Amino acid sequence: MCGIVGTVSDKNNIIPILLDGLKTLEYRGYDSAGLSYLKDGNLIINKVEGRVKALEQKIEKNSISHIGIAHTRWATHGKVNEINAHPHQVGKITIVHNGIIENYNKLKHKLKDKGYNFKSESDTEIAAGLLDYYFKKYENIDKTIQKFMKKVDGSYAICMLLENDPNTIYVIKKDSPLIIGQGKNENYIASDVPAILKYTKNYYILEDYEYGKITKNNIKIYDKEGNILKKQLKEYKGSSATSDKGTYEHYMLKEIFEQNTTIRKTVNPYINSINDLLTLPDLTKYERIDIIACGTAMHAGLIAKYLFEQYSNTKCEVFLASEYRYQNNFLNNKVLSIFISQSGETADTLAALKKVKEKNYDTLGIVNVKESSIARTLDKVLYTEAGTEIAVASTKAYTAQIALLSVLALSTAYRKKQIKEEKVNKILEEFRSINQTIIPVLENIKTYENIAKEIYQKNDIFYIGRGLDYALAMEGSLKLKEISYIHSEAYAAGELKHGTISLITKDTPVFASATNKIINSKTISNLKEVISRGAKCYLITDKDIEDENFKQIIKIKKVSMFLKPILTIIPYQLIAYYTAKLKGCDIDKPRNLAKSVTVE
Ligand code: G6P
Repeated sequence: MCGIVGTVSDKNNIIPILLDGLKTLEYRGYDSAGLSYLKDGNLIINKVEGRVKALEQKIEKNSISHIGIAHTRWATHGKVNEINAHPHQVGKITIVHNGIIENYNKLKHKLKDKGYNFKSESDTEIAAGLLDYYFKKYENIDKTIQKFMKKVDGSYAICMLLENDPNTIYVIKKDSPLIIGQGKNENYIASDVPAILKYTKNYYILEDYEYGKITKNNIKIYDKEGNILKKQLKEYKGSSATSDKGTYEHYMLKEIFEQNTTIRKTVNPYINSINDLLTLPDLTKYERIDIIACGTAMHAGLIAKYLFEQYSNTKCEVFLASEYRYQNNFLNNKVLSIFISQSGETADTLAALKKVKEKNYDTLGIVNVKESSIARTLDKVLYTEAGTEIAVASTKAYTAQIALLSVLALSTAYRKKQIKEEKVNKILEEFRSINQTIIPVLENIKTYENIAKEIYQKNDIFYIGRGLDYALAMEGSLKLKEISYIHSEAYAAGELKHGTISLITKDTPVFASATNKIINSKTISNLKEVISRGAKCYLITDKDIEDENFKQIIKIKKVSMFLKPILTIIPYQLIAYYTAKLKGCDIDKPRNLAKSVTVE
């Protein structure tokens, strides 16, 4: 989603810094880019629809500057075009902005009455107009920013240049992440640390309703009343976002193959013995667990629901964060709310978390990015160790989430005496030797490539399953949609005949996994029903089945239900990948999608 970079330096070298930063943020997904810098006292603004590369080409050769701000835009208000791209300049103010100004329409009318005209359809231009209006009125930047924060509803991380103030970048923040990096005679602003990691590891986090003034050797941060704050300088411990693709053609493929390591790394502290397992938080006092997340992270929650309910006898509900926020949540002291997020910045998940925190109920998080907004807001965090995930379609973060949730459910089951010690030890051993079960699934590439050849020209594909396999069908279907743009639907296997079976015609591909011995035969019967109607069925199972009615049976090794989802999702990930590849799609950066969704 939108990305921000800014810098002010004692050297005239900032354009490559801004472009480097934007390139690092590219993986988050965007549709236009722009930057603004001071050259010989004049403010230059360059914008493009499309990629940062095009922006780079647009910048006048040999341009030098000591101060500038830059942006990648993921359209929310107004079409994808150059005019709507940031920076936006109104009067004395030039800004880049992440977030959404919710009351922009009302503000626009007020500003129009005061004589302002706007060129774009963007809410950001209105924010620039409002800042300009207050600046002209008060002739004082602190008063301007404080008034702006009072008048604006919505979310914003703003980076601003002010006319006749050639040495300062101003920043304002609410509900959208923003950090300030400290360098040597050079300071930086970014929407996340990896964008400036090439230059510094040291940074300050701006919290809601804080604002800052940044010069080449001074960083000042204020609260909303204008009191100067003493903030803690942090050191970034995570890895760089621009990790190398190595020999892989796409980040997504690389990340799928990393899963062997990332799962192990994530659960490693808990799998050597039952004592280690019991270092996980004790959840036995809770009568209900609510899991709240978006997208793939929500799908990981569905796996956890199954495990918590079946094995630890703990009621568990899963919510989409965007829905949860506006529901009656029936919270009490016996409910634990678990938030799952790869980026730790998803706006809806963060807002849902704040809702629970305001009521003082317990929260726990499964988060990949350390020091992210969600991680900082939670009572307790368990980190997945997936490393930086670049491909928009989440793979290794998802399996790290389900691995961590699985050991958490396992420890809860053990504590509640719902599972025998011997069984727990066997499952821990399966986690320790996951190499042996996961590598054969990863290496079955020819099978996935062949399936991709059979389906890549199809328009509609179904994914079905029961229980855990239904949750996996949802994730499998999402992966295919995200990157190959083929429409697909996930259905509970038993529900298909209550409507959607009417869409099954000759050669419609239907995928299913059947990994639960109690309900396998039911799912297989449902597949037979669609085969009778001409469908081509692909089955993932650990069962020894030979049946020529299936187009393909993908065998996975027999492991406990705590590991099965991990093995089962990999064929779905790789089939989606090879299908998208055959279609020539932009696999790592699918159209319209963003890696980190920082608007609601
Ligand atoms: C976006 C990403 C998905 C991700 C979802 C939730 O839609 O494209 O891959 O699952 O956001 O993101 P989070 O960072 O909170 O896990």
